[in-house]
Amino acid sequence: MRNKELGNDMPIGVGLIGLGTVGSGVVELLQDAPASLRRRKHVDFALRRVAVRDLDKPRSPALAPELLTEDAAEVVADPDVQLVVELTGAPPAFEWVSEALRQGKDVVTANKALLAERGEELFELALANGADLMFEASVAAGIPIIRSLRNGLVANRVESLYGILNGTTNYMLTRMSRGAGDYADVLKEAQDQGYAEPDPTMDVSGMDAAQKLAILCRIAFHCTGTGRDVFCEGIEQIESRDIEYARELGYAIKLLAIAKQQDGRVEARVHPAMVPEDALLANIHDEFNAIQVQGSAVGPQVFSGRGAGRLPTASAVVADMVELVERKAAGASTSIGDMILGEDAVAVVPIEDVQMRYFMRVLVRDQPGVLAGIARILAEERISIASVIQKERDFEGGSVPLVIVTHEAREAAMQQAQQAVATLDAVQGAVKLIRMEDL
Ligand code: NAP
Ligand code: HSE
Repeated sequence: MRNKELGNDMPIGVGLIGLGTVGSGVVELLQDAPASLRRRKHVDFALRRVAVRDLDKPRSPALAPELLTEDAAEVVADPDVQLVVELTGAPPAFEWVSEALRQGKDVVTANKALLAERGEELFELALANGADLMFEASVAAGIPIIRSLRNGLVANRVESLYGILNGTTNYMLTRMSRGAGDYADVLKEAQDQGYAEPDPTMDVSGMDAAQKLAILCRIAFHCTGTGRDVFCEGIEQIESRDIEYARELGYAIKLLAIAKQQDGRVEARVHPAMVPEDALLANIHDEFNAIQVQGSAVGPQVFSGRGAGRLPTASAVVADMVELVERKAAGASTSIGDMILGEDAVAVVPIEDVQMRYFMRVLVRDQPGVLAGIARILAEERISIASVIQKERDFEGGSVPLVIVTHEAREAAMQQAQQAVATLDAVQGAVKLIRMEDL
């Protein structure tokens, strides 16, 4: 993309590492730049070098063969490359990105794992070398949530943040709620539709969302936690039956990423949650993502859109490229690292100390004293029962499902109660807990 008509004769040399789904989308957006992009005074990119894994793969859009290399280190080292765009998700990404920053080159990446787990090292490296590192596409792809937290909401203290940050699991839960089958059926459907990977672990376990939440927490709360510090429970144990009970109680089940200020620390957790069916997040369906932010000045705001895909993700990458160039042209003396690192960083609250309401579902033998026994265990843990549902009909060989909704309780107490209930003779199978969030 060249903007000669704007009189800028020095295009920014771009080195692209990765020309797959997102990389090819970036090339397409730069080649077909809309007027909004062409009008930006300092924006003049020239693609200098592109690294791929396999030179023989057909490429669309097509690129001059001499641009391509199988050696990403060549892209980083190329003296004509000032801006490195990493779009592989491959394990050596840390080496490529850190080397680029060491050389004082700016970097844009969509790599959430890299940012969530090693962001701090990379921002320090960027600061030490006068370079910048941008990563809008790493969370919720085309939704400008990072930019909004960094810029638009800068006058706010973020009080809480609730996100649907994983499209695959949102698609699966939506399909389950529409009667498309149980977990295994909707997983297969998500794979057939191209949402879920052949190995869906990162998505269904909640780890993908946890990494994204760690990145948001860094910006919104100055929280030092990595993806591994975020409490994480996936959707593997959610059954259609849970969704039916949730509906009976007026709730929907979503895989939520939740972060809240709590006495100078931050609650950060990802797990299936029951949310009131009229809440905005309960009505984000299929593969869509959404983030609800509670700001001290603006109150609640919701951002929603596609959280993955070729052009939605490329859109965020190009926005970062443009911001970097414009910041440089304006002689910005602060970097993204300045905004993210700092002495006032806060830690994550251990999940055991978090308080919320719970839905407990258990299959019990229909005999005297069973409900009393469970109520006694809850009372011993100082957990107050809000409501109970027991179906009268025979269910699975003489057993009946018992559903208990609690008032707010400490997670540690609820886990103790869960274990104790599971040991009762009349209880059959696992004691299912689903956390509740009254958004
Ligand atoms: P992808 O389609 O698998 O593409 C990966 C690209 O990287 C391919 O062009 C591949 O080359 C190249 N590559 C892999 N290993 C390489 C190596 N060792 N040296 C040089 N090139 C290498 O992946 P993607 O979906 O575009 O994802 C890219 C990044 O964006 C990941 O970090 C991902 O998490 C993130 N992201 C993706 C999405 C999305 O919707 N896809 C959304 C948000 C964030 P070949 O083409 O030769 O195989
Ligand atoms: N696998 C992710 C999702 C997209 O399903 O949302 C990339 O972050």
